[in-house]
Amino acid sequence: MAELVDALVSNTNVFGRAGSSPALGTSHKNALVVMVTAGDFFYTITSYRETNVHCFIENSVNFENRYVSIAPDRVLTDFRMKFNQVQQKLKGVPFISDINAKKLYDFIVENKVENILELGFAHGTASCYIAAALDELGLGKLTSVDLKETKDVFQPGIEEQLTNLKLTEYVEIHRMQTGYNWFLHNEIKTCSNNEKNKCVPKYDLIIIDGPKNWTIDSSSFFLSDKLLKDNGWILWDDYNWTYAQADKKRDQTDGVTHRNLSVEERETPHIKEIFELLVMQHPDYSRFEIQEASNWVWANKLTNRAGEKSISYKHAYTLPALMTHLSLKIYKKIKLLFSKVS
Ligand SMILES: C[S@@+](CC[C@H](N)C(=O)[O-])C[C@H]1O[C@@H](n2cnc3c(N)ncnc32)[C@H](O)[C@@H]1O
Repeated sequence: MAELVDALVSNTNVFGRAGSSPALGTSHKNALVVMVTAGDFFYTITSYRETNVHCFIENSVNFENRYVSIAPDRVLTDFRMKFNQVQQKLKGVPFISDINAKKLYDFIVENKVENILELGFAHGTASCYIAAALDELGLGKLTSVDLKETKDVFQPGIEEQLTNLKLTEYVEIHRMQTGYNWFLHNEIKTCSNNEKNKCVPKYDLIIIDGPKNWTIDSSSFFLSDKLLKDNGWILWDDYNWTYAQADKKRDQTDGVTHRNLSVEERETPHIKEIFELLVMQHPDYSRFEIQEASNWVWANKLTNRAGEKSISYKHAYTLPALMTHLSLKIYKKIKLLFSKVS
């Protein structure tokens, strides 16, 4: 807490006394807290959501005679360091990469994404970044789903990581017997419990990061679509992942035995097929972003706006990824040439 006070003193504008405070002696999580020397009381600015002002003081703390006041328009940028703090604590725990974690965190904060569904959480590392972004916003909820059978496999687990970061309140955890498609079934049923028996979507962002299997995840796309609000986003990990790659490390992935698949099924990236054949062809989806380098793809749902539909690709390559991609292309061409000659 002392570090926080120091940060506030050095990073913020001092703009004077807080004035008469109705919140004498109180504090509020995620609210802007202004402390004045007279009596060491906290002043909670109630419009913090509108102004996007955040502060990470949880409980009343005696700051001794330190004088701290915060100018609302400065705080958002000053406190983006929250990401770095979370990153430090999650260091070394799979699976989300630093690049993707930052991208996701910024996306949530910048777009004020409130209702998020994560399909496949493993250790809950991505879940923690999402919860931290919601904490920075001071609103929202993450629903995270995985398999019952992997509870003891992923250590540290999601509960432990969220508890360490004091972020448990933002996340609802579900562990399913057979997988997230049955969770989606339950959600669709609940959301359809109305007079018209029509599924009312509830999520602004759905992250699909599970078995990366055509059979399961083609279905998870269409089921997720029913739950995704207009203007919402779906994000997939493992865009280029194949069973053939995984074969070098293990003989089965999420219950699918590699040798039971055809060569074509092993060598084809399933998520890429889902994306190109189902998502991009879907009339309600546009604004596709393909992050080749970090294996992520995004699609934006813009319902009933076929006239406005514009498809844009963003192949976000880092130089090494671009080199790998080009070498692979050349290799495939040479291989094809040789097979024709022989
Ligand atoms: C790569 S990990 C997820 C990583 C996490 N999103 C992150 O970035 O920190 C994939 C997870 O999907 C889960 N999974 C695989 N098949 C599933 C299914 N059918 N339903 C639910 N979860 C599944 C696995 O148990 C595993 O925890």
